[in-house]
Amino acid sequence: MSRQVGMGVAGEIEPGQRRRVFVDGRCIVVFNVDGAIYAIDDACPHNGASLGNGQLEGHVLRCPAHGLRFDLRTGCTPGTGGLSLIKFAVETVDSKLVLNLDEQNAVLANGTGGNAAGQPEAQHCATRQEK
Ligand code: FES
Repeated sequence: MSRQVGMGVAGEIEPGQRRRVFVDGRCIVVFNVDGAIYAIDDACPHNGASLGNGQLEGHVLRCPAHGLRFDLRTGCTPGTGGLSLIKFAVETVDSKLVLNLDEQNAVLANGTGGNAAGQPEAQHCATRQEK
């Protein structure tokens, strides 16, 4: 069953801003990067550090704990594959931002959902082949 949570009026999170959303004990960070909205689980796939205060350079978020970088568009480490963020779908419905929290529908960078138990698990991006 799909779980959707309203996050207020679209446009409240302005470009360059981020907001934490707490739902059922889970923290999700929502970013507006140049008008595009991205929502990720606030746990680094490396060792679980909070990503909410990570430095953002364009679409690339740096984990404050050990410095791994993740592209919010793909969830992957730029250029190398590696660990993947857990992303959640965000849509605008009647001028409101709606976050889809259904873990089965969580968008992992490899295009799959959460595991069979409905729990997020460490995922890896495919290693890119350079030509
Ligand atoms: S916990 Fe994020 S890079 Fe180690």
